[in-house]
Amino acid sequence: MNRLTRRRFLQGCLGAAAVAALPGAAFAENSEALPPLRQMALRAGIEYGAAVGSPHLKQDPAFAAAVARECGVIVGEYETKWSFIRARRDEWNFSGTDALWDFAGRHDQSLRGHTLIWHNALPNWVKDDLNAATAQQLMEAHINTVVTRYLDAIATWDVVNEAIYPSDHLENGYRQSPWLVMGADYIEKAFRLAHAANDNATLIYNDYGVEFDARKADKILSLLRRLKDSDTPIHGVGLQCHSGNGEKLDLRGLNRFCRGVADMGLELQITELDIKDTRLPDDETERDMLVAERTRAVLETIFAVQKPTQLLTWGLSDQYTWLLDKKMNPSGRPVRPLPLDRTMRRKPMWLAIHDVLRQAA
Ligand code: G3I
Repeated sequence: MNRLTRRRFLQGCLGAAAVAALPGAAFAENSEALPPLRQMALRAGIEYGAAVGSPHLKQDPAFAAAVARECGVIVGEYETKWSFIRARRDEWNFSGTDALWDFAGRHDQSLRGHTLIWHNALPNWVKDDLNAATAQQLMEAHINTVVTRYLDAIATWDVVNEAIYPSDHLENGYRQSPWLVMGADYIEKAFRLAHAANDNATLIYNDYGVEFDARKADKILSLLRRLKDSDTPIHGVGLQCHSGNGEKLDLRGLNRFCRGVADMGLELQITELDIKDTRLPDDETERDMLVAERTRAVLETIFAVQKPTQLLTWGLSDQYTWLLDKKMNPSGRPVRPLPLDRTMRRKPMWLAIHDVLRQAA
């Protein structure tokens, strides 16, 4: 982290810490008067938003109002994945993504597409059918059908998600994905198919871990370079930024990665920011401040190199986060990984994001 960033980080933290040290209600009261994140993002020339589940928008008016207020872009946490859209071979279910499209349209928001090709969220029939002879046709039918349906709705796609996983010990750090039956160029093929279906869309490679795993970050950079060298229609990289307390931040490595992306002329997007806080102190005020500081450290490091075009948190309220899932949180302890608490009140993490956007404006 260069000296300027460090000083800004400390000033920022002390500033945010001072405010963040207020107990929840007082903090929320102090921050309510501030403009929403979508407005601050717009002033900075970027979009802020969050992953949402369509059932929550329908069933929880307070949550829907908070999403409408704070988000300029939304993305389906689940609805635009293969396992929802084509759970069965002969059935396409667009109801979830259509509901998100409707909500986004009513609140002047853009809709992000997550995700076309992933090793996860694949129905069993796909895993059964997928082989060297069928893969291209399966991939082509899926990408053409989904991207074409949302030509007027979705301008940014996570085309391929999480294809790098060095622990699988494959060449170039590839993950042992079912799609590898097509060969290592399945990634390039997915981008070419997405571009053929919508040549106006912004096409993103999305992955996690660059802020704490330098080995993985280097493999992702190499993949991006290979895609660029083969003139693959790719426009940017999504840094998921699930930056929990389990991993030690490597801000120098993150800075190096962001510079590598900028050197290739690729966009940066922050696509799934949340801060897993299960190992942080029980005291909520202290925990919220630590989550805010970690948020600020990650964001300031990225913004210091290149302003992301989109900044999304993976959820908006602690009421709805994947980190409440039993397998992620066996103890069932309440988690506080997101900008709003369970009652939709703004938290120090919200202020940290607000502050970074204000500085970027
Ligand atoms: O809503 C259905 C329900 O109708 C159905 O009865 C039930 C039966 O399984 O499934 C429910 O859907 C669940 C869905 O979340 C909505 O809650 C799926 O089972 C469950 O697998 C799904 O998990 C999602 C996971 O990706 C897998 O798709 C999580 O919500 C989502 O937060 C998580 O998000 C991923 C990103 O896509 C990629 N980066 C990591 C991130 C966290 O794992």
